[in-house]
Amino acid sequence: MSTTNSQEYTQLNAEQLTAQAIAALKRAYVPYSGYPVGAAVLADDGRVYTGCNVENAVYPLTICAERVAITKAISEGAQHILALAVATVNGGTPCGACRQVMQEFGTPAMPVFIARTDGSYRQRTLEELLPEGFSAADLPEK
Ligand code: THU
Repeated sequence: MSTTNSQEYTQLNAEQLTAQAIAALKRAYVPYSGYPVGAAVLADDGRVYTGCNVENAVYPLTICAERVAITKAISEGAQHILALAVATVNGGTPCGACRQVMQEFGTPAMPVFIARTDGSYRQRTLEELLPEGFSAADLPEK
């Protein structure tokens, strides 16, 4: 199977991506909520970038695991994300802010694996999570 086909590549690696999100969850800094989250993104450079939530005593400065993983990917030179896995103890779903950031760098058909720490997961597309999301296409031409 060709690894240049992102859909095939992603399907092949759903379990691996989920496992990396679960591993990243263990590095979460969550003294305030006690709710660790891990994320892993497969980027168009073929690499997997992980993230965890990092909280702050100034609560709004907290950053979600998904956005840590995505910003790591983009800051390392990736341009697009092909798939994302997020892991929590109870299969919590990505927040609205993270869905919007996924839309910036992903595609509507991008798979999102919403996992539990026991390894089970459900699969959604980004479009299912963020229908009719705002994007650059909605901005007036410069
Ligand atoms: N959190 C994430 O990391 N990702 C989400 O998509 C939802 C929420 C984090 C933020 C905060 O540290 C904790 O979960 C509780 O909201």
